Amino acid sequence: MPAANPPADLVDRLADAVGAAHVLTDDSLTKGYRTDWTGRWEGRATAVVRPGSTAEVAAVVRACAATAVPIVPQGGNTGLVGASIPGDGEVVVSLRRLDTIESVDPIERTLAAGAGVTVAAAQAAAASAGLMLGIDLAARESATLGGVVATNAGGLRVVRYGPTRWQLAGVEAVLADGSVLRRWSGLMKDNVGYDLVGLFAGSEGTLGIVTRVLMRLVSPPAHVHVALVGVPSLDAAGAVLGAARAAGLTIEAAEFFHAAGLALVRSRLGLRPPFAEEYPTYLLVELSGGTEDGVADTFARLGTRVGDGTFEPAPGSRLWAYREGQTEAVNAAAVALGCAPVKLDVAVPLRRHAEFEAVMRVRIAERFPESEVVTFGHLAEGNSHVNLLGVPEAQADEATDLVLRLVVDHGGSISAEHGVGRAKRPWLELARSPVDVAAMRAIKHALDPAGLFSPGVLLSPARRD
Ligand code: FAD
Ligand code: MLT
Ligand code: ZN
Repeated sequence: MPAANPPADLVDRLADAVGAAHVLTDDSLTKGYRTDWTGRWEGRATAVVRPGSTAEVAAVVRACAATAVPIVPQGGNTGLVGASIPGDGEVVVSLRRLDTIESVDPIERTLAAGAGVTVAAAQAAAASAGLMLGIDLAARESATLGGVVATNAGGLRVVRYGPTRWQLAGVEAVLADGSVLRRWSGLMKDNVGYDLVGLFAGSEGTLGIVTRVLMRLVSPPAHVHVALVGVPSLDAAGAVLGAARAAGLTIEAAEFFHAAGLALVRSRLGLRPPFAEEYPTYLLVELSGGTEDGVADTFARLGTRVGDGTFEPAPGSRLWAYREGQTEAVNAAAVALGCAPVKLDVAVPLRRHAEFEAVMRVRIAERFPESEVVTFGHLAEGNSHVNLLGVPEAQADEATDLVLRLVVDHGGSISAEHGVGRAKRPWLELARSPVDVAAMRAIKHALDPAGLFSPGVLLSPARRD
C-alpha cells in the first residue's frame, strides 16, 4: 500500500482524531521519529501522530485505512532492525502518550499499563509494590512496554524469566479495521481459543497497534550478588555458569563481552580497567540465593579456569556499566569510522557458541579485512550481538549474508531477540520454511488484508499467490 501522494484531507482527519497539536508534518519535527537509533536508517513520513487514548488510536487507524495510507507504530524508537521508522510515506503512530500505569495487583501479580509506559517506569511501579518486572534491558529508560511486546524483547533477565512473551498476561490492540481486540483476564489458566496474546508478542507492528498491556510480575530475588570475571574464552565463561548452578546458586543474569568491547566502553565512559590484567573475555553474572562466602567459594573452586574476579551486592552498577555501555560505545566508534555499525543479533546452540564466534571472526577478517568485529551478549542463551564496524553500507548486505548463513550452518537463529524488521527481512526464508512463511503471510492477510501496518517489515510486501 504505497502512499506516495497521501490525500490532502488525511492530515485534517488525523487532526480531528487526536488534535492538531499532536500531528507533526514538518520534517525537522519528525526527524527523531523517522531515524532509527543507530542512525543507519532514515525514512519519509506523511505525518507523525501522537494519540492520547485507545479511542484516538482507533480513529487514526480508520483515517489511514480510509485513505489507504500505511502506518508504522512506534514506541521508544530504540529498535535495532529498522522496523520502528517509516520507509516511504507511512504515518508514524507514536504511542508514547499512552504512558499511564493503571494498576499493580499484588494478588494477581500483574501490572496493567498503557503501551507507551517505559520499561523503567514499569519496573519502578512493580518495585513500589514489592514485586518485580522480569524484563530488563539497557534501553529501559526509552523502550516501551508496547515495544518490548511487539519485538518480544529478550534482554538481561531471559535466563531467569524468559522473553517478554512469557510475561505477557493480556493485551489490548487496535486492528486494521479500527476495532479493538482485548484479551485481559490475567488468569494463569485461560485456555479458550488461539493464543492471540502470544501472537502479538513479536509481531513487530505488522498485525495491529498494541495500546495497553497486562504484564505478569515476579517476586524480587533475595541475596543477589553481581560478579565480573575475566576468563580465557566463552567456553570458560560457560563453565562458570555451570559451577554456579552446581553450587545451588540461581543465575539472574549472565552477560559476556570481550576485550575489544571493553576498550571501547572504557574510552567512551572513562572507566578504569576492571582488573590489573586484561582478559580475552569477561563474564558479568548476577547470582541469587547465596552468601558472599558461598559466591567467593564457588569462584575459588574454579581455579585457573577463571582469571580475576570481583563481586559486590546488587545492584552492582559499577560492574554493570562495563556491559551496559557496549551498545552506545560500539555505535559511537562505528560512526567515528564514517558508517553506522552492521548489527546482527543472533543465537546459536550453547555447545557451538565459541566455535561460531571463532569461525565468524575468521570469515569476516578474510572478506572484510578493514573491518572490526565487536561481539557481546547474553551468554546463557547463546545470544551474540555481532557488530561489524567499518563495513561500508554498500557491502552491509554481503556481510549480513555471510554471518546469517554461518548462524544457520551452526543450527542457530538469525534473530535472537531484536526481531527481523526491515534489516533481516530478505533472509527470512533462510530461517523459516516456505510453509512457515506462507502461514505467517496468511495470518497477516487475515488480520490486515490491505497491508496497512508496517509494510516491508518482517514479510516482504504482500504478493497474493
Ligand atoms: P520501537 O523501537 O519504537 O519499535 C520496535 C518495534 O515494535 C517496531 O516494529 C514497532 O513498529 C513496534 N511497536 C512499537 N510499539 C508498538 C505498539 N504499541 N504496537 C505495535 N507495534 C509496536 N532488545 C532486546 O531484545 N534485548 C536487549 O537487551 C536490548 N538492549 C538494547 C540496548 C540499547 C542501548 C538499545 C538502543 C536497544 C536495545 N534493544 C534490546 C532493542 C530495543 O530496545 C527493543 O527492541 C525494544 O523492545 C524496543 O522497544 P521500543 O519501545 O523502543 O520500540
Ligand atoms: C544488548 O544486549 O545490549 C542489546 O540487545 C543491544 C545491542 O545489540 O546492541
Ligand atoms: Zn541484547
